[in-house]
Formats: sequence, C-alpha cells, structure tokens
Amino acid sequence: MNFLFNDSSITVAIVGCGGFVGCHLLDAILTRTKWRVFGVDLDLYRIQHRLNDERCEFMVADLADKKVVERIAKYPVVVNLAAICTPSRYMAEAPEVIRSNYDHPAALAEACAKSGSWLIHFSTSEIYGRTSADSELLLEDETELTFGPVTASRWSYATAKLLTERYIAGLKNLKWTVVRPFNFVGPYMDFMPGVDGSGIPRVLANFSTALVRGEPLKLVNGGVAKRSFTSVFDAVDFMFALFGAEKSPFSQAFNVGNPDNEITIAELAQKMRKIFAEIKGVSLEALPVPECVPGVEYYGEGYDDSMRRLPSVEKAERLLGFKAQTPIDVILRESLTWFVSHYGSYQSPCGSLQDDVNHSTSNCGIAALNPVT
Ligand code: UGA
Repeated sequence: MNFLFNDSSITVAIVGCGGFVGCHLLDAILTRTKWRVFGVDLDLYRIQHRLNDERCEFMVADLADKKVVERIAKYPVVVNLAAICTPSRYMAEAPEVIRSNYDHPAALAEACAKSGSWLIHFSTSEIYGRTSADSELLLEDETELTFGPVTASRWSYATAKLLTERYIAGLKNLKWTVVRPFNFVGPYMDFMPGVDGSGIPRVLANFSTALVRGEPLKLVNGGVAKRSFTSVFDAVDFMFALFGAEKSPFSQAFNVGNPDNEITIAELAQKMRKIFAEIKGVSLEALPVPECVPGVEYYGEGYDDSMRRLPSVEKAERLLGFKAQTPIDVILRESLTWFVSHYGSYQSPCGSLQDDVNHSTSNCGIAALNPVT
C-alpha cells in the first residue's frame, strides 16, 4: 500500500461517482488529496460543480459495457458504489436487481484481478439477512446468515450482493476490500418521488418528503424495526482510513456503521418530526401524526424485513483506527435542513419540475449498472 494523499500521479476510479455516497467521496478526495478521479455514472446531476475540474474525468456509462469495465480497471484504485439499492424495487424488479448487483460487479472484479487494481467494493448490511428483533451485534466474519424463502423476493438484492462478495473473495490475484454500509444518511440521499425519481426511496428520504409535503409519515409494520444510522461524512472518513491504512486492508470485509445511533423507525419518525418542526418554526402538533401500514401493502408481495441491524465496528477500529462519530440528532438536523432547502418548493408530487433537479435515478448513488433506468 503506497497511496500517499499528496501523490498527484494517483487516479482513483469511482463507479457511481454521481450518486449519494459518490458525490461526497468525490468532494472529499478533491479537497483532501492531490489525486485525480475518473468518475463513471449514468447521472451526474449531484456533481455538476465538479464537471470542469481539471483533476477529474467523467464518463456517462454503464458497467454493462465491457470496454467501460476494462477502462475502469486500468486505474490503481477502483471504488465500486454502483447498485440498485432501494427496497421498493427488490420485489418488482428482482431480475434487474440481481443483474446489477451481481453480473456487473463480478465483471469489474474479474477485470481488476487481471489488471492488479485494488477493488473497494460496496456491498450492504443487508447481507446479514432476516435478522430478528433480538439479534446481537453483527460480526463480519462470524455471524450466521439467514434469508427468507424464494417467495420473499425482498432478499433478491441481499443474496446478489452476498454472491458478489463470495465471487470477489474467490478470485485469484484480486486485491479486494468489501464495505458493508449500515444505513448511511445525509444530504443528497435518494430522491423526492415525483420530482427526481419514482417509487419509494429509503426511509430518510421518504420521511423527509412526507414532512415537506405535510403528509403523514408511514410506519411500515408499526415502525418496530431498528436501524443504526451512519453519517455519510463518517462513511467518507472511513474511506480515508482505508486509503491510508498502515496494515493491509486486502481480503477483508468491513462493517461501516454507528451502533450508538440505533433507533426504531417509529423513534426515527418522532425525531424527524420534532427537528422538522424546529427548522420550520411550527408546532409539533401542527404536523400530521404518523400512520401504520402493512409492509406487503406498502411495498408489494414478497416484502420482508430485517428487524435489527446492529453493526460490530470493532474490526474497523482495530485494523484501521476508524470509528464513526456523528450522533443521530446531528445527522438528522443536517439532512433535514439540506432536504428542506433543496426540495422545499416541491410540495406536490405533480408540482412543476425544474431542470436543475429534474433527473431520474432511484439507485444508490449510481445509476450505473442499471440499463433499464
Ligand atoms: C436498505 C437497503 O436495502 C440496503 O441495501 C442498504 O444497505 C440500506 O438500506 C442502507 O441504507 O444502508 P433498509 O434499511 O431496509 O435497507 O432500507 P429503508 O428503506 O431505509 O428501510 C428502513 C426501515 O424503515 C424498514 O424497516 C422499512 O420497512 C421502514 N420504512 C421505510 C418505513 O417504516 N417507512 C418508510 O416510508 C420507509
């Protein structure tokens, strides 16, 4: 490992550079290092401010294209953030979800194995599967993995991601690191339905949308599931701990999460309502009360859930000296403040669209890999 931050000869390839995590990672690399970036995505709206940066080259492309894959694998560090990662799509579009989360990253991994690039592959906390409400800390190399039956197509995504992890780990000569994000949240997450995407975004964007529109927040199956929310800025700090690792981070999977931020979704709704009321200077009582909705009715047949996702973060701390720091209340205030200023004028799903936010993506940061979007 010899990736010095002041070495201007290094170029990092970021697949999904225009997505939620990608846009923050791009900004941080350009600010904190002298590296160059080769960015690939199908949608660059989040990174308009970087399009003319002389240290960047961007390609609007899809990993389904072999030539693009070969080009990416020429760079010494390849970060693959591309995925379809909104649960609302796992049931209705299972084949596309599996293709984009297995076929394309597997092809990229093969190319990196040939070229000798270090592949940092973003997997998911969802590979821990159908965790129960009393499940314990999820450990990268010890926790047993259980998924629902094939009829529960919710798990199409998780099983594709898990297969990709196994494929990567099995490839001879590949220098790899797998990252398992635990509910990263922050500015630019997902989309507002009817404005810059369609369907149901993940919970933070969905609750933020409902608050801005004065609609009730929907608590799926009562909102009893728990998540440990992690600031996207902590996630970016993790990447720098990885880039600068003193001990080899190769052949390792890392949870990236914040167990101190564990809450139920019902608690999340209450916190977000309170913070939104403070930001807008209105009384909490003026906001609609959350409503409970059955998961299958809300997301469709085949929906299932992880009831608790509590990351062990001991490995990242031990091997990389990294620990997420940002408390949940700080994250939510920052995210909601951004959401209100970015989307505040879009009260109605049928409201007028502006060119600067009228783009279409419902992927995790990456439109890439999804030929059908
Ligand atoms: C999703 C993805 O599937 C994972 O790949 C990804 O790693 C993870 O997000 C993440 O962001 O790290 P999940 O946590 O289930 O997994 O995604 P959300 O859609 O944000 O749902 C979180 C919980 O909130 C679930 O229990 C869901 O049923 C609930 N929810 C969601 C609501 O109660 N109301 C909503 O409007 C949306």
